[in-house]
This record gives sequence, C-alpha cells and structure tokens, in this order.
Amino acid sequence: MKPFFLFCLLICFSSGKVTANNNAPTSAPKEIEFLHWWTSKGEVAAFNLVKDALLQAGVSLLDQPIPGGGGDTAMSILQARAIAGTPPDIVQLEGPSIQSWAALGFLHELEQVAKDENWHDNLLPVAQQVNQYQQRYVAIPIAIHRLNWMWINQKVLRQYGLAVPESWDALIDVFERLKKNGVEPLALGKDQWQVALLFENLAFGYGGADYYQRAFIQMDPAVLNSDTTHEILHRFRAISRLVKPGMSHMRWDEGTQLLIEGERAFQISGDWVLGDLLASHAKVPTDIACYPAPSRHPGFIYNMDSFALFNSPRTDEMTAAVVSKTLSSPEFLKTFNRVKGALPARSDIKLNGFNSCSINAKKDMETAAKTGQMIPSIVDSMAVSPIAQQATSSEIYRYFNDETMKPDDFILHLQNIPRGE
Ligand code: BGC
Repeated sequence: MKPFFLFCLLICFSSGKVTANNNAPTSAPKEIEFLHWWTSKGEVAAFNLVKDALLQAGVSLLDQPIPGGGGDTAMSILQARAIAGTPPDIVQLEGPSIQSWAALGFLHELEQVAKDENWHDNLLPVAQQVNQYQQRYVAIPIAIHRLNWMWINQKVLRQYGLAVPESWDALIDVFERLKKNGVEPLALGKDQWQVALLFENLAFGYGGADYYQRAFIQMDPAVLNSDTTHEILHRFRAISRLVKPGMSHMRWDEGTQLLIEGERAFQISGDWVLGDLLASHAKVPTDIACYPAPSRHPGFIYNMDSFALFNSPRTDEMTAAVVSKTLSSPEFLKTFNRVKGALPARSDIKLNGFNSCSINAKKDMETAAKTGQMIPSIVDSMAVSPIAQQATSSEIYRYFNDETMKPDDFILHLQNIPRGE
C-alpha cells in the first residue's frame, strides 16, 4: 500500500470517522468482487457510476453482472457461492433477504458509518427499516424504484386516436383496438417476473392497497376468495389473450427498445425503464410518457436496491467503511439515481436535474406514504420470504399461460402457500 492511501486510512479512521477521499489515491486500488444483475443499457450506465465513485475512493470493482431482470438468477448464484464458502464481497440485495443473510452471519455491519453519516435522520423511513437487522445497519440503501408505471409510446396512441387509459377496463379496450389495427399493445417478455409484475400492478390498481396487503401478503383466505380477486383474474385472462400471441422471450430492456421504436404501444414495469429510455436518448415524457398504472386509489408499489458487504478477507473494516461511506453520500446517490431512473434512498436530496417522471414519482410516493397506499412489491422481493415470492409468482405465471386453470384453482393454490420466513 502506497503511503498516501495508508496515511488517509490512518487519519480518516483514527477518529472513528470515515472521510470520503475525493482525490484519486496514488496506491493500487483494492479490488473487491461485486455481484449484481444490472445488464441493460441504463443499468450499465448507472453501475459505471458505482465503479467510478469507488475507484476515486481507492477501491476497484471486479464486476460480476448476472443477466436476468428482477435478480432471480443472481440470487441463485449467490446462494450457491455462499454454500460453497466463496460468496462475492459486495452484492445487490433487496428487501427481506437482507435480514435473512444477516441472520446467517454473512453480512458486514455498517453501524459506525450509519452513525457518522447520520443515516437515522437522512434516510427515508422505508430505507431505515429494510437495511437494518436487529436495529443495526447491515446494508447500504441506494434506490427506491416505483413499480406501478405505465410507459406509453405517445405517437402510436395518437396515430390511432386513443386516449390514455385511466382504468384497467379502458386499458383492455385500448389493447383490443390496437390489436385490430395490427399493433402489438404491450412490451412483455416471457420471464416469470415480468408477467407477475403485470399482475401485481393489476391487483393493486384494481383492489387497492388494503385488498392487496390482505390478499397477497397476509393471504387472508376470505379476502383472497373474494369477488375482487375473481374480477382481477377475469381481467388478467383478458390481457393474457390479447398479448400472449405477440410475446417472445425478450428481456424487459428489449421490450423497452420495441416501445421506443413504436413496435409496442405500452410497457407496464418499474422505473428502471426510465433509466434505459434516458440511456437510449428517448424524449421522456414527450415521446415516451409515464403515467401511473391504472389505479382506483393513487398509490405507489416500491422495491428497493441495497448493497450488502459480505464478510470476507477483502472486506475488512476499512474497506467496508470506505465503500459504505462513498456509496451512501448524497452526491453519489443523486448522480446515480438520476441515471438509474429511481429515487434516492435519502430524504435530504433535491431532485433538480431529474427527469419529470422521477419528480412525479417522488410526489406520488410522499402522498402514498401519508395515505397508506405505499406498498412493497411481492414479485420484486420486498414483501414476503423468497419461497413465498417464488411460489406466488409461479402460480400467477401458470394462470397467465394456462387457459384451463380456473380462478378457484388459482385462489386455492395461493391459499396453500406458506407465508413464513
Ligand atoms: C431491481 C432494479 C433493476 C430491475 C431490472 C429490479 O429487481 O431493483 O434495480 O433495474 O430489477 O433488472
């Protein structure tokens, strides 16, 4: 280690405080391995900002991107590596899995940086709750994504004289009209999580936050077995009949490209789509508009990206502190989230310079938090255990694809999913 870097570490840490190093260190950077699932244009652009910020602080990243939106494949690889005793040093994680990894003793505690940087006062409440285990921080809160977005190619809609749909029935009607004109309505790939996310949008939009919580998070049999669920499933079937013939094995970001090109009219997905639209220089919202997915009560479905440091010889105390300090700074979170299309996990960051879709998302998030309409995504790993999440998504996927599956079968299968940790 060259003298400058060593000097900085000694000075910065001797007071128990970590100071981000804005000058490029003169020593060879320390290398750590980073596992994540950011492989689309916008995601790569955002990840490069992580790399740059850490390099500035004297840490270089050995990048391990695992393709597969939603992170299912990345999480399987993480489990396999952890079992083999060779987990990566730093990992993109979401929701309750942070607590599970912490409970197993894998995660580095970040309590000192959290105290020094006053995370308690500066993080959004949801970021505080998600990133702690037994009241101690074990992950770095990065981004809040809104999942109930409807991205629309305005030109296509205008071409056929169609208004922006404000209800799910109006959306189905618009889909039918587009199909009659030979236009594929929805950018949707055959991945299970893409289909399950569409259902989540429909269930929340049609039933509202209270219904959604009780039916799909608490699995209350009476709420699950209600007319509302039947009405939702009826609409889900109608959508599946309209969009299935045009579906392929495309990734979500390939879908976004088709949306930009006017080959699809809509995409219903999280605001990582915005990251890709921006990286592709699409005009947002003039050409590609963002509207909340139809909803009876305005609301906000969220997931959250966090980074967790796994215990390893490379993630010693000082490296962990430098990494968490750098990646939780307001400057980094602002630059990163503007590119990622998401909202910063801190509450003390102004959104000047952000796209208007993000600015609207923040307003909607604040309203939803006050009115009890802000809810965690089941499909994107925020609300239930990974086992319950997989089982729920798999039943949704089956229902979408299998016309012979009746609503009562779906409801019964969901009722039988154990909700435990
Ligand atoms: C992550 C996003 C990511 C998206 C698509 C979500 O699970 O939270 O950061 O962009 O998957 O890959």
